[in-house]
Amino acid sequence: MAVGLLMMQATRMGYVAHPVSGYNALKLKPLLGIPDDHILVTLINVGRHGQDVSLLQDDQRERETGPRIRKPLEEVLSWNQFQFGG
Ligand SMILES: Cc1cc2nc3c(=O)[nH]c(=O)nc-3n(C[C@H](O)[C@H](O)[C@H](O)COP(=O)(O)O)c2cc1C
Repeated sequence: MAVGLLMMQATRMGYVAHPVSGYNALKLKPLLGIPDDHILVTLINVGRHGQDVSLLQDDQRERETGPRIRKPLEEVLSWNQFQFGG
């Protein structure tokens, strides 16, 4: 919930917020000064869209500049009963 709400608020304020799970928590925690008894759940990159997309990798550029494709609501939401799939 915290991640989702942070992302919504950032978006409302004109920022772009991307969650990231592609990191090695064991290596990253010491770099960020996160104590051993704290769990690193995710990172969220918050910033503004840059003008120069040439800095991005090809797949990232495609995702950033292409249309957003979302699953239809009925594929991700059901009421009272699990009603997905066959
Ligand atoms: C849980 C989660 C983890 C993600 N991890 C990565 C990541 O490690 N690297 C990456 O490039 N994108 C990652 N993404 C995707 C981006 O953060 C972002 O959601 C994607 O670019 C779609 O953005 P959009 O909401 O503007 O369409 C992750 C997304 C989610 C939901």
